[in-house]
This record gives sequence, structure tokens and C-alpha cells, in this order.
Amino acid sequence: MYDIVKQIHSGWAILAFFLLILVVVNSTIGLLTKKEFTPWDRRVGIMGLIGTHTQLLIGLILYFVSPLGFSSLGNMSDKALRMTSLEHPLINIIAITLITIGWSKHKKITESNKKFKTFLIFYGLGLILILSRVPWGLWQSSL
Ligand code: HEM
Repeated sequence: MYDIVKQIHSGWAILAFFLLILVVVNSTIGLLTKKEFTPWDRRVGIMGLIGTHTQLLIGLILYFVSPLGFSSLGNMSDKALRMTSLEHPLINIIAITLITIGWSKHKKITESNKKFKTFLIFYGLGLILILSRVPWGLWQSSL
């Protein structure tokens, strides 16, 4: 169970990153070229939302089956365990909350430029937060 969930979380991370980068690049282009917000732009946004929410669900399961998750919460002096049991989950939950707020906010906005700006700010901040707390060494060794 642990190995399977870990593999899925590790692989899905690539898809989640790809989708988040797509939203950020697409919103930047939309903002700079002052183009109209189309159903394609909405689709890109919802794919980024679904991609990260799926990763959140897999991460939550992993948190309780991994020896590096909840069961290691007491080992705060160990940098690597503090990362996987506290910093990574906490910061990622905050990041995904920001992405969700960005998605909800864009729905209430009618102006195209403001929609792109909202996506860029909230998805962009989410992406930066997620990137700041990836256990890179662990990931590299499992790919
Ligand atoms: C978009 C959000 C997230 C991304 C991109 C992400 C990505 C990753 C990556 C790349 C790894 C290393 C995987 C490996 O070593 O095979 C990892 C490990 C881990 N993640 Fe996440 N994660 C996210 C959210 C979460 C959340 C929300 C939780 C928990 C609530 C979580 C719990 C864990 C745990 C416990 C590990 C260590 C697993 C182990 O090696 O035993 N992740 N994550």
C-alpha cells in the first residue's frame, strides 16, 4: 500500500507541476497580450485546480501510511523528517488553498485582464510555495 501510494504521489507531482506552470504561462501571455478570456483559459485553470486537488488527496493518504509522515511528527530536530511530516504537507495545503481561492475569485470577475491577473497571482504564489517545500533529494532517489 505504502509503495503504491508513494509512487502515485511521486508521479502525479510531475503532472501537477506541468499543469500549474501551464496556468502561470497561459495567464502571463493573456495578461501581456490583453486577449479575451476564453473557455480554453478557463479549462487550463480548472485542470490546474483538479491536478493539485488530486495531489492533495493522494498526499493525505500518504501522510498516514508513510513512515516519514504523521508517525514522524515528533522528530522535529531531524531536518528531513521535519520536511516530510510538517513543512511539506502544511505549506502545500496553504498553497492549494490559495489556488482554490484564485479559482473562486476568477469566477466572480467579468473583465478578462483581471481574470488572468487573478490566476497569475494565486496560482503563481501556490506554485512558488509548493516548489519551496519539495523534498528534492527524496524525489530524485525515487524517480
Ligand atoms: C501539489 C502538492 C504536492 C506536491 C507537488 C507533492 C510532491 C511530493 C514529492 C515530489 C514527494 C517526494 C516523493 C518521493 O520521494 O517519491 C513528496 C513526498 C511526500 N508528500 Fe507530497 N506533494 C504535495 C502535497 C502533499 C500533501 C498535501 C501531503 C500531506 C498532507 C503530502 C505528503 C507527503 C509525504 C508524507 C511525503 C513523503 C513520502 C515518503 O517518501 O514516504 N504531500 N511529495
